[in-house]
Amino acid sequence: MSEAPYRESVLDVTGTSVSPDVVTPTLVVTPRVVVNPAVVVTPTLVVNPTLVSLTDVVKTYPGPLTVLKDVSVEIGAGEEAAIVGPSGSGKTTMLSIMGILDRPTSGQVRIDGMDAGSLPEADRAQLRAEVIGFVFQQFFLLPTLSAVENVAEGMLYQGIRRHVRRQKALEALDRVGLSSRAHHLPGQLSGGEQQRVAIARAIAGGPRLLFADEPTGALDQTSGHMVVDYLLQIASEGTTVVVITHDQGLASRFSRQISLLDGQIVADSAVAEGDS
Ligand SMILES: Nc1ncnc2c1ncn2[C@@H]1O[C@H](COP(=O)(O)OP(=O)(O)OP(=O)(O)O)[C@@H](O)[C@H]1O
Ligand SMILES: [Mg+2]
Repeated sequence: MSEAPYRESVLDVTGTSVSPDVVTPTLVVTPRVVVNPAVVVTPTLVVNPTLVSLTDVVKTYPGPLTVLKDVSVEIGAGEEAAIVGPSGSGKTTMLSIMGILDRPTSGQVRIDGMDAGSLPEADRAQLRAEVIGFVFQQFFLLPTLSAVENVAEGMLYQGIRRHVRRQKALEALDRVGLSSRAHHLPGQLSGGEQQRVAIARAIAGGPRLLFADEPTGALDQTSGHMVVDYLLQIASEGTTVVVITHDQGLASRFSRQISLLDGQIVADSAVAEGDS
C-alpha cells in the first residue's frame, strides 16, 4: 500500500478532517488514537510501594530485656506518620532499627524492598547516607560551624563535590525558611531555628525517608509547632516522614498515628479495625 493513506490517518487524529474514501477502517486506529493519557497515569496513582517495613522484629538487650516484641509495620512511599507511646515503650529503638542504625535481635528490616539485615555494614552505611535523613531532639549541630556549613557537612559521605554541597545546603535552608540565617553560628540561633537547621541538614542530600526522634522535645510550643509545619511540608513534597513524639496534639497533625506500648504496636490508624 502507498504511504499516503497512513499520513492521512495521523492528520485525522490531530483533528483535520479526512475524506472517508481515502482512510480505510484499519488506518483509523492509529497508536495516537488508542493511547489515552488517563490510561498512562492510572498505574502511578494506584502504586504506593512500601518504602520501609519491619517484619516480626524483636529487640532484646542483655538482662535480658525484650524491648520490641514481634513488631511488624509497613510505611509506604510518601506517607507521613507519628509514632507515639509512653517513655520506655521502645519508640527510639524501633526508629533506630527502621533507620538501620541498629540491628534487630530477630526479624526483618526492608528498605525499598532491600533486606537491610543481609547487607554488610559498609553497604548499610551507604544506604543510610543516600536514602535516610535523621533529626534528633538535641539538634547535634557543630557549634563552630555556620548554619550553611553544618548543613553541607551532612552530605560529606555522599560523594557530592564541595561547591555543590554548599549550593544544596543553601537550598535546604531556604526550604526551612532560614536563608537569612545561613551564616549564623548555632549559638546565634534560637532553639527552633537550630532544629530547622538540623532538618535542612537531614533533607539537603534528598533522602527518600526522614526520621525525627522527638524533634520538638527541646522546644517551646510555638517553635515546636513551626518545626512540625516544616516536617509536614517536606512530606507534602514527597519525602516519607516518620516522627516520634510524646505530644498527642502534634501526633494528630500527621495523617497516620502508630501507638507503641511495652514494645508492641497496640494501635495503627492505617490499619482498619478487624485487619490485624
Ligand atoms: N542500649 C541499650 N541497652 C540496654 N537497654 C536499652 C538500651 N537502649 C534502650 N534500652 C531500654 O529499652 C527500653 C526502650 O527504650 P527506648 O529508648 O526505645 O524507649 P522510648 O520509647 O524511646 O522512650 P523515651 O520516650 O523515654 O525516649 C528502655 O527500657 C531502655 O532502658
Ligand atoms: Mg526515645
